[in-house]
Amino acid sequence: MVENIEKIENIISAYPYPPELYFTKLGVSADEIIAGWSSEIINRVKNGTPIIFQENLGLVCYKESSFDTKVLKLNTARIYAIIPSDIDNMESLRALVEFVTDSLFSVGVEYATYRFNSKDVNLQDVLLARGFTKVDDYVVLVRNAETPISEYTRPQGISIRIAQELDVPILQKNHSHTFTSSRFFVDPAVTTEAATLMHSEWINNSVKKQVADEVMVAVDETDTPIGFITLSVESKYNITTGHIPLIGVRRDPEFVGKKIGRLLMEAAFKWFNDRECTYFFIETQGANYAAIKSYEGAGYTPIGQGITYSWSNN
Ligand SMILES: CC(C)(COP(=O)(O)OP(=O)(O)OC[C@H]1O[C@@H](n2cnc3c(N)ncnc32)[C@H](O)[C@@H]1OP(=O)(O)O)[C@@H](O)C(=O)NCCC(=O)NCCS
Repeated sequence: MVENIEKIENIISAYPYPPELYFTKLGVSADEIIAGWSSEIINRVKNGTPIIFQENLGLVCYKESSFDTKVLKLNTARIYAIIPSDIDNMESLRALVEFVTDSLFSVGVEYATYRFNSKDVNLQDVLLARGFTKVDDYVVLVRNAETPISEYTRPQGISIRIAQELDVPILQKNHSHTFTSSRFFVDPAVTTEAATLMHSEWINNSVKKQVADEVMVAVDETDTPIGFITLSVESKYNITTGHIPLIGVRRDPEFVGKKIGRLLMEAAFKWFNDRECTYFFIETQGANYAAIKSYEGAGYTPIGQGITYSWSNN
């Protein structure tokens, strides 16, 4: 495959919908974003991620995910890129997607997901026609580190501390129904039990710092967790960014909408500032109005959007 790298780079460079195109709004050029995406895919390929490349059709890069396979009890693959050689040629796009599903099927993949730029409407049409399901319509919000924190009434008796492994069982119990708007819960190929387990494992692995850099909990006066936030730092296009992959407040009228989410975010902002993040990012489903409202109240504004499709072999 190494001999085709130049051709692969050319196809990626001609594709107008790199997933993180919204970085242009932070002053990064579209060329730089495409180059970044291209080298991300090439690096994956160099590190052993399979790529299917047909010069006349385009390329597809995907990898089986052992963690998702274990939790979902389905042979799962994550698709990283579906890029046609000629974006205006629907026939070759159809052939490329057909090639994807045939290839997934032939290697025993039972379930696959692909997150991409929702502006690629041709691809959406073809995926739907080929039996994919749209499972997520997400919005990306950004906050400038320098935006001042607006005044709000802090919840009484609630404080924030670093999560400990001892907190994991109560967090898992409290939040078994918190994330029901996430893509796993709406995906017909995933059972409710599997979706619950996915989030439960996600909490566990975050507190153990396997998939997050830090986790904080909001606790009441008895030090009992009633909410949590996971944090990570990334560096891209020479910008250091702070991310909140997961935030949840116990779904109880006593706690919801009481600015506990805001208090958790304020602690996150301090943590990000200490790590010199210039922008903070957060994502949620476009229909998760409560979350979007809460993030906007904390100073975030929408900057981009994306979409997730899933494919199942039955
Ligand atoms: C998102 C979440 C963490 C916010 O925490 P919260 O403590 O409930 O919210 P806050 O009190 O800090 O947010 C306050 C704002 O959100 C608004 N809000 C909260 N719940 C709302 C609801 N159900 N409908 C509409 N608006 C709502 C409030 O009106 C308030 O607006 P204001 O600041 O203009 O007064 C919480 O709603 C939650 O756990 N949701 C489920 C999990 C989830 O979806 N997480 C995000 C995806 S990872």
